[in-house]
Amino acid sequence: MASLFNRLKPKISEPAVEPKGKVIAFLNQKGGVGKTTMAYNTAFALSEEGHKVLCLDLDPQSNLSLLFGCERTGKHHLHHLLINSIRELAPLHVSSLIGDVLVTKGKVDLLPSGQELSGFELTVAGISAPRQTILKKFFEKNNLLNEYDYIIVDCPPTLGLLVVNILCASQGVMIPFKPDEFSRKGLTHFYEALEDVADMGISRAPDVLAHIPNMVDLRRKQEVLDLEKISSEMAEGTTVEPFFNRAQLVKSQAQKKSVYDFKGKDFKHLQGQFTNLAKIITNWNEHYEH
Ligand SMILES: Nc1ncnc2c1ncn2[C@@H]1O[C@H](COP(=O)(O)OP(=O)(O)OP(=O)(O)O)[C@@H](O)[C@H]1O
Ligand SMILES: [Mg+2]
Repeated sequence: MASLFNRLKPKISEPAVEPKGKVIAFLNQKGGVGKTTMAYNTAFALSEEGHKVLCLDLDPQSNLSLLFGCERTGKHHLHHLLINSIRELAPLHVSSLIGDVLVTKGKVDLLPSGQELSGFELTVAGISAPRQTILKKFFEKNNLLNEYDYIIVDCPPTLGLLVVNILCASQGVMIPFKPDEFSRKGLTHFYEALEDVADMGISRAPDVLAHIPNMVDLRRKQEVLDLEKISSEMAEGTTVEPFFNRAQLVKSQAQKKSVYDFKGKDFKHLQGQFTNLAKIITNWNEHYEH
């Protein structure tokens, strides 16, 4: 799998002047591995370091939006903004603009999701424009990569058209996983999807910045063995320190807070782990070559 990772080379040249912002997706087609948890806290870690951050909830389940205290039932959300950006779908356009949909928590902005996003694939099925680059064009049209340092995307647990759009629009990918045999297989499929994106030639495949073992229990021997096996198959140095099963994460999410909202000693280690994820992103960005 490591060799597959190394083969993912850019296929097209990018425009000369590049915007400063980077899109980082938290991705795994497996459900419940910690994508939303990691995306949310890493967004706040980047914000703590002084970066301007926009979160995008591209999961119709809207879990990230709920962590921002935002429910869009009956209101417009990211799905409508994406449809608005497609000229051919003018009859479906709504009056809402980004400013009408954007919510802010602390210093972090969010474009929330909603139920309608589950129909995105069907809604865009008939258009003649490329369907894989709708999100990439949405960023460009709205100048979002000049407005923000980082756009953090929370992905649905699929490898469908939404995720292909996310892969085509992202420069970096973070992969939370639970160490077990199913995850190992899932990661193989993910790397195949990444290679497909590179093969399409319409966009450069994103760099995989980190594999994040989550909800790890070192008392379970099989988990330790699976973790060692998966780590050895990933590109060297990309598997980070495991996140254990932590009551603090459950507590912070129940209160719709990030780990940085807590001053207690028991949150220090988790804060350090998320700050480390933010540093992986910023260090990578410092050396990013367009
Ligand atoms: N390290 C952890 N310790 C304890 N609970 C955790 C940890 N990581 C995640 N959780 C909990 O596990 C559940 C699943 O996490 P999360 O929603 O982040 O996964 P996900 O990959 O986004 O799921 P989905 O694929 O459904 O979107 C949540 O209830 C979350 O609070
Ligand atoms: Mg999620």
